[in-house]
Amino acid sequence: MSYAVEVERLSYAYDGRPALREVSLRIAEGESVGLAGANGSGKSTLLWCLLGLARGSGEIRVFGSKPGRSTYAKLGAVFQNPEEQLFMPAITDDLALGLRNRGDAVETARRKAMEALEAVGLARRAGLPASSLSLGERKRASLALAMCGSPELLLLDEPTAELDPRSVRQLANLLAGVRVAKLVASHHLDFLRRVATRLVVLNEGAIAADGPIEEVLADAALLDRVGLV
Ligand SMILES: Nc1ncnc2c1ncn2[C@@H]1O[C@H](COP(=O)(O)OP(=O)(O)OP(=O)(O)O)[C@@H](O)[C@H]1O
Ligand SMILES: [Mg+2]
Repeated sequence: MSYAVEVERLSYAYDGRPALREVSLRIAEGESVGLAGANGSGKSTLLWCLLGLARGSGEIRVFGSKPGRSTYAKLGAVFQNPEEQLFMPAITDDLALGLRNRGDAVETARRKAMEALEAVGLARRAGLPASSLSLGERKRASLALAMCGSPELLLLDEPTAELDPRSVRQLANLLAGVRVAKLVASHHLDFLRRVATRLVVLNEGAIAADGPIEEVLADAALLDRVGLV
């Protein structure tokens, strides 16, 4: 089987304070995996390591390569904080910049950027900077950014935060229709049920469970122990 993600005994510490402890995880190509865990359990840190923005000890492979320049083009990411990704004078420029970096010509980048913004209902806001959008609109703009480059792996950190119920439903439908590998960190367990077939649970930086999502969510004792209920 070929894997989108292979993580072998990954540990990461912030100034000596462990945030990830010997995490091992594989995600097959096309597989959709949810990532749950209480605040501070290490979800964002794991995603940052997969993006190559944090380097711990252990092994990480994304489509067989170490995270870095060669893997960026295959990734689409939504950061927990959209301001870290959207900073141009207009959100359409944020998207077009990413597409230009992947090699698209100016006109192609503009067209794809507009299509991606339309898909998340933001076409009418395309000319505004992220700072002029509502929080939910910013999150939708970063989703458009993540999707617009036709990625083979989506790394989504709290994609439903700030979204209204209809937008959550639309996002679940959108993601269900995109057949690429996904790792989706969220506190929204019902949303994860709709977009993932497997659930990984982190507890204090270590994997506490990894299995079919309905089985993991049926384990009331586990959910209680890791602070998910
Ligand atoms: N920039 C940082 N500097 C120092 N410590 C950090 C930093 N970012 C995260 N941490 C610590 O690392 C641990 C894991 O944090 P992380 O953000 O990965 O958790 P999380 O599961 O994403 O939490 P949340 O559900 O709140 O988003 C926490 O104890 C946190 O305090
Ligand atoms: Mg987080």
